[in-house]
Amino acid sequence: MKSKIGIIGSGNVGSALQKGISKAGYEVRISNEENVAEVAGGADIVILAVPFTAVDDVIKKLGNTVKGKILIDATNALTPDFQLAVGFTTSGAEELQKKAPQAKVVKAFNTVFAQNMESGKLNGKTLTAFAAGDDESAKKQVLELEKAIGFDAVDAGPLANSRQLEALGYFNIQLGYFLKNGTETGFIYAH
Ligand SMILES: NC(=O)c1ccc[n+]([C@@H]2O[C@H](COP(=O)([O-])OP(=O)(O)OC[C@H]3O[C@@H](n4cnc5c(N)ncnc54)[C@H](OP(=O)(O)O)[C@@H]3O)[C@@H](O)[C@H]2O)c1
Repeated sequence: MKSKIGIIGSGNVGSALQKGISKAGYEVRISNEENVAEVAGGADIVILAVPFTAVDDVIKKLGNTVKGKILIDATNALTPDFQLAVGFTTSGAEELQKKAPQAKVVKAFNTVFAQNMESGKLNGKTLTAFAAGDDESAKKQVLELEKAIGFDAVDAGPLANSRQLEALGYFNIQLGYFLKNGTETGFIYAH
């Protein structure tokens, strides 16, 4: 039986992932600000799709509902003025793992624009979605989820490689927004 997915955050990323994951045949629920613990409690895999600045509040709301579960970190670790918040010695995902030690944190989806998250496709091309995590079985399930949505799913190694994925996510934002290439753009890792 397929895992039940709970998405925390119903903005651009949360709603796009909900559509893509639902199309892929998974049961999926999405939270509002009030029912975070309820949605996470009923899920096997929880996806964090909230602003980086809201992570601490959401961790409090999650409580022990993510114990033993896969916690996908789709956030981009950005300050309110759009600078990379962490980088050389840690990452948002590693800090999340410290704050939620009983969850199995996997960094994923942060390098893809929400506009392309529903299908993993862009103008007929298949985009890459990475997954970085320390629990091999958890990471494998996230790679399967990415593939089921339609991405080319690529193992990005241990959770510490989130430092690179978060820098890549930031670079995606630089290319898309600041250098005005738009959001109909994305990374393809040829392999
Ligand atoms: N947009 C992209 O293309 C993209 C791509 C990759 C990664 N990301 C990352 O993914 C995350 C979400 O981005 P987004 O564009 O989807 O943002 P968004 O449209 O602003 O949506 C954020 C969602 O989080 C909810 N939220 C905020 N604070 C919360 C809290 N304390 N408790 C519970 N829910 C809370 C918001 O609820 P309310 O609306 O009720 O405030 C909203 O549903 C960010 O970390 C972003 O960096 C974004």
